[in-house]
Amino acid sequence: MEKDNLAPITLPQFAIPDHQTHNQMSPAETATLKREIKSLLQRNNGVLVAHYYTDKELQDLADETGGCVADSLEMARFGMNHPADTLIVAGVKFMGETSKILNNEKRVLMPDLNATCSLDEGCPVDQFSAFCDQYPDHEVVVYANTSAEVKARSDWVVTSGIALDIVKHLAASGKKIIWGPDKHLGSYVQRETGAQMILWPGSCVVHEEFRSVALERYRKLHPGAAVLVHPESPESVIAQADVIGSTTALIKAVAELDNQEFIIATDKGIFNKMQQVAPDKTLLEAPTIGEGATCQSCASCPWMGMNTLTKLRDTLAHGLNEIVVSASLAEKARVPIKRMIDFAESLKK
Ligand code: 13P
Ligand code: SF4
Repeated sequence: MEKDNLAPITLPQFAIPDHQTHNQMSPAETATLKREIKSLLQRNNGVLVAHYYTDKELQDLADETGGCVADSLEMARFGMNHPADTLIVAGVKFMGETSKILNNEKRVLMPDLNATCSLDEGCPVDQFSAFCDQYPDHEVVVYANTSAEVKARSDWVVTSGIALDIVKHLAASGKKIIWGPDKHLGSYVQRETGAQMILWPGSCVVHEEFRSVALERYRKLHPGAAVLVHPESPESVIAQADVIGSTTALIKAVAELDNQEFIIATDKGIFNKMQQVAPDKTLLEAPTIGEGATCQSCASCPWMGMNTLTKLRDTLAHGLNEIVVSASLAEKARVPIKRMIDFAESLKK
């Protein structure tokens, strides 16, 4: 990490929830709950949009009911093209807010509004805005893992799936960049693009726990394994990757590479989709700090884990946990998000 480019900022303190205990219900109870949710989805003309890191049951339900299981970019896009009146976003709060910003006329509900993200928590808008004010000649590029207010203060929103392309484009037109909030992703983008960037010093509590020395040892035990790393991980972990990319890119790598074994440095919720696209391949968890004994997140995002079937049922049954973003804030935040979506479309052409 190029420390010179890290902004000298003291991040706010925030609580990390206890490790979540995943679904403890019997298969029969789970099946009953899923039936109930399916009929509530129909009654509400609702569709379920889930992130790859949520529990298997939620992902399966999204797939079975015509919803989607996706990365944060695709989750944002999905709601825009869907006729449902209600979007149920199983993920973390910034994903629900992005859906609401892009679909202001739709009702957006989440199983738990306290499901947030360490990057969002570590980037309060007042502090971030004051920091941006110091560099008026810089383009402000923020990761999607931020509040609606931070997005509204930015020029561009990016996800890990499109960050490199957008920053390359900005650098080619001579722009200097303020990047927030993930310092590891920012530093990776900087190394790859050579762009001039000042980085907000935030990080993801999940990816920051992957450990490079333990990974080196683990690779020796599995010499044929391909190493797949999400770029929110530290530089020393990224340096050992065969593939670095968004959650979608890592799933694609498991399907397409010839390797039989994969060591995966991202939230282990993703194993569900990976195993679906490549049932015969072996998926191994990259080692985290304490190798399972003392890790805080243990490769499982504590906020993503707050999404449960029971909460989803209650949310739909009673119309709870609606995401509210004022029309004026949504209008401002929509500009940099739409810029990203339009840029992604232009790349496809
Ligand atoms: P993706 O955009 O790759 O889905 O990442 C979102 C995220 O929160 C990763 O920790
Ligand atoms: Fe945020 Fe990290 Fe959880 Fe992704 S895994 S939602 S970046 S805390």
